[in-house]
Amino acid sequence: MPPELPLRTDRLTLRLHALDDDAALLDYYSRPQVARYLLDEPWDESTARTRIRQHAAKDGLDGPMGALAVVVELEGRVVGDVTVWRTDRLHRRAEIGWVFSPDVAGRGVAAEACRALIPHLFKDHGLQRIEAQMDERNTASARLAERLGMTREAAFRENWWNRASGPARSSTG
Ligand SMILES: CC(C)(COP(=O)(O)OP(=O)(O)OC[C@H]1O[C@@H](n2cnc3c(N)ncnc32)[C@H](O)[C@@H]1OP(=O)(O)O)[C@@H](O)C(=O)NCCC(=O)NCCS
Repeated sequence: MPPELPLRTDRLTLRLHALDDDAALLDYYSRPQVARYLLDEPWDESTARTRIRQHAAKDGLDGPMGALAVVVELEGRVVGDVTVWRTDRLHRRAEIGWVFSPDVAGRGVAAEACRALIPHLFKDHGLQRIEAQMDERNTASARLAERLGMTREAAFRENWWNRASGPARSSTG
């Protein structure tokens, strides 16, 4: 268990995934508006069962997977998740990704969760750099990255494909 978990903020609790979080994640990952800029189709129950095991295995940046996935609870309900994974151990780089329920959009919940987690990634896990990649049409995600103090550094053409129509461009911050 990473020493910083569970993390509590004014409104939120961040903790590792439990296998029975599958229904909560299914509630938002099944929505087309959430999946639009993700790699997966909107989840069904079978996908949720598979993915929850994968999320639960990401139990620490310093563990074998080099990845940490946390759920974010608001008023006792899971409303989102944040995943961080090492991309380059030698140079201590990692990438971060975030997915939240539209039910809590526009309330600063995602930013509050990330602001609580990110200092630990630098301080407790020795990261030098954290990157985020997103389709450049994903303006909500780009705004969140900016609110967190990330800087837009590049736009890569034809870099990866997501569910949004056709080849996507992604930007990193
Ligand atoms: C990306 C995503 C997490 C952003 O969610 P969000 O609700 O916009 O972000 P926050 O929770 O930080 O809320 C910020 C908004 O709340 C507003 N807000 C209200 N109260 C606030 C508060 N107390 N603190 C901070 N912001 C507050 C902000 O002004 C901001 O509004 P704006 O976007 O109109 O400027 C969300 O759109 C999402 O999950 N999308 C689907 C999955 C996805 O694409 N993930 C990224 C893949 S790269």
